[in-house]
Amino acid sequence: MDIRVYRDYHEMSRAAAQIIADQIRSKPDSVLGLATGSTPEGMYAELVKMYREGKVDFSKATSFNLDEYVGMDPSDPRSYHRFMRVNLFDHVNFAPGKTHVPSGIGDNLDEQAMEYERMIAAAGGIDLQVLGIGMNGHIGFNEPGSPFDSRTRVVDLSEQTVSVNREKTEAESLPTQAVSMGMGTILQSRRIMLLANGAGKAEIVSRAFKGPITTDVPASVLQRHPDVIVILDAPAARLLDSK
Ligand code: PGA
Repeated sequence: MDIRVYRDYHEMSRAAAQIIADQIRSKPDSVLGLATGSTPEGMYAELVKMYREGKVDFSKATSFNLDEYVGMDPSDPRSYHRFMRVNLFDHVNFAPGKTHVPSGIGDNLDEQAMEYERMIAAAGGIDLQVLGIGMNGHIGFNEPGSPFDSRTRVVDLSEQTVSVNREKTEAESLPTQAVSMGMGTILQSRRIMLLANGAGKAEIVSRAFKGPITTDVPASVLQRHPDVIVILDAPAARLLDSK
């Protein structure tokens, strides 16, 4: 695995944005897999800056986000639809209809999840998938125990995930279910870039990338993928050499 360690959050966010910009430069109609959460916020800010400076052009690109809470209206400030608009989509030039976030509302979420898979396939598959990592090793909302061949589906969130996310977003309440791309969906991406920062992530980063491949630590399966870049700040990389 290609593990790159940067001095601080700003440096790692710049490096991650550069990788996305390079991807789009080499293939303007790239299909990007995008992630929400506090980790990629700096990367999105950097991409917006690069767009304003004329250094990246999203006009031919397509995006598919990893996940959304069940029952969450896209206009809800807690929704990942809203997160993506505020952090990226409202500020850059994706063509109308080219950005996708799973819907958490509707009469048949299972069918909608399967349709999301079909849309990814119809777009040609994901060229570059961005991931964060949860404190329990989840990628997307694939919690420990998620089968490695799972597809986009409705998932139950662990109590830890809900409480960590509530704290981070200062939301009074959050749904306990989500629609998430599956492990199999993520693994089919041609290239994957996982970001993690902060000392709090050091232990899970080390378990995921230096420990055994196990569904107990979902991100560990990335060790099997041939093209993964892991972008860390120094505190998150702290335990990597000691195992
Ligand atoms: P975070 O979330 O970026 O807010 O730490 C990562 C995740 O839960 O996947």
